[in-house]
Amino acid sequence: VVHISLKIKKIDALETEVQELRKKLATTEELLETNMRDFAYTSELASASFYSNAQLASVSELTTGRFLDVNDMWVTTRGFTREEAIGKTADELNIWGDTENRSQILKDIHETGRLRNYETTSVMRSGETREFILNAEILHINGRQLLFFSGMDITERKKYENNLKRSQKMDAVGQLTGGIAHDFNNLLGIIQGNLELIEESLPDNAQLKKLVNSALHGTNRGVSLTRKLLSFSSQHASGNLSANANDLILNTKDLIAKSLTASIFIETRLSPASLKIMVDPGDFEDSIINLCMNAHDAMPEGGNILIESFTSTLTEQYAQLNPGVEPGEYIAVRITDTGTGMSPETKEHIFEPFFSTKSCGKGTGLGLSMVFGFISRSNGHIQVQSNLNEGSCFTLYFPKSETPQEVNDPAQLADNSKEPMPQGNETVLVVDDEGYLVEIAGTFLKRLGYKVITTTEPAEALDIIRKNSDIDLLFTDIVMPGSMNGFQLAAAAREFRSDIKILLTSGYSKANDLLTPEIARKIDDLIQNTLPKPYPHVQMAKAVRKALN
Ligand SMILES: Nc1ncnc2c1ncn2[C@@H]1O[C@H](COP(=O)(O)OP(=O)(O)O)[C@@H](O)[C@H]1O
Ligand SMILES: [Mg+2]
Repeated sequence: VVHISLKIKKIDALETEVQELRKKLATTEELLETNMRDFAYTSELASASFYSNAQLASVSELTTGRFLDVNDMWVTTRGFTREEAIGKTADELNIWGDTENRSQILKDIHETGRLRNYETTSVMRSGETREFILNAEILHINGRQLLFFSGMDITERKKYENNLKRSQKMDAVGQLTGGIAHDFNNLLGIIQGNLELIEESLPDNAQLKKLVNSALHGTNRGVSLTRKLLSFSSQHASGNLSANANDLILNTKDLIAKSLTASIFIETRLSPASLKIMVDPGDFEDSIINLCMNAHDAMPEGGNILIESFTSTLTEQYAQLNPGVEPGEYIAVRITDTGTGMSPETKEHIFEPFFSTKSCGKGTGLGLSMVFGFISRSNGHIQVQSNLNEGSCFTLYFPKSETPQEVNDPAQLADNSKEPMPQGNETVLVVDDEGYLVEIAGTFLKRLGYKVITTTEPAEALDIIRKNSDIDLLFTDIVMPGSMNGFQLAAAAREFRSDIKILLTSGYSKANDLLTPEIARKIDDLIQNTLPKPYPHVQMAKAVRKALN
């Protein structure tokens, strides 16, 4: 009995123990389940963050370099399928391209166990090279050494930054060029004006006349050069009219065809629809001629020039990469040649004034800068595609013109060297901060019969107007140092004398930047008729007469 009762006790004890163990098991099982759930969560999270990451990611075996897995972005960007990648090495897929990068990256990883923010290029399946920032980490898992790579594709960002830098550089060059051209214009004005005065009062001395003429000829060349510089830097679109791009192209085609060598063929493929754009027609034609002459120069052995016109969309994505471009519908004019093409280095600089790869005397380097100025004045965009030995393709994009407001004075810049000059006997107040220019203009106007008062001080000019009610015309420069520019002077003059006639003149392409909306409202009519400096006398005589009338 004792024996049995002992056994029962033991069994009881065992049972309690079993029960306790059962309880423990249950807790452990519960714990395990929680852990399993946690693990599933973590691994799903890791997997999601691997596969759906916006950056490229891959895992490979450190020793062999063979890919174990790659993520979706890797597949989309590189163009290989996951199946194609797994089991292969980066070398077999020719991902590195440049072997120097490869050894540097692997050296860094082996030395430090990781790679941080390494900027490099890599080759896609298509052969395209893209730019990346790479990070890597060696992982130790189950006794295996794995290499985790992540790459951020910065190709687009780089492109945008480069485009932005380029456009800022062009702005700066424009500012500089405009400034220099302005000052040169004034100097040329002084020389031109004095020479014309000398010429007019020269005795009949053939030899002296010849000398003066040759000096005048030199000045005119200087004027035409500064005009070209201004045409690069000027943002002021004064001569814009609504025109059909196709008509403008056809206008110039014959002229271009005549000046091409026989081995160059020119073909046009124009949109059958009328393509209305708002441009300065003269500038448009000059641009087409410049582009075709460049194409001609790039094809010394002969070739083809194709001029096309069509409607085209610049996408949101394209606009994001190109600062200043508005997405939308455009009219495109494209000029393609089969010439030498350009290296990336050349392409980088072609729009800069005076950049030319042509031998001295052949190229001025002002052709494309003129085209560039014209395009920005037309609120357009220019795109260049070219590779060495693969020809070049320039596409000009113009906003569609909705308002066909024809302006009716296109032949303004006609040759007017020996026309009779209109005269008068009114009183003219001439204002220019440049003393010599004031004097020249004054002398010249006196010869035409006008009564003239001159000053270099805008404030004094205002005083003169206040005191002399007989002043018929205020003839003033726009850009003057000090507290009052020509616009402000003109507006103030009108306050005193609502009937005073005013003629503005300026040699500075960005003069209109000085205009405030308030002033613009008061003298809007004058701004349209600004006389560009330097001016041949006959043009000034006409402008003065027109303003007085
Ligand atoms: N169609 C083209 N093919 C090859 N190179 C070109 C082409 N157009 C322009 N270029 C390059 O751009 C440079 C600048 O052109 P541009 O401003 O017209 O000056 P220029 O013709 O006086 O050299 C040229 O010298 C040339 O190197
Ligand atoms: Mg050229």
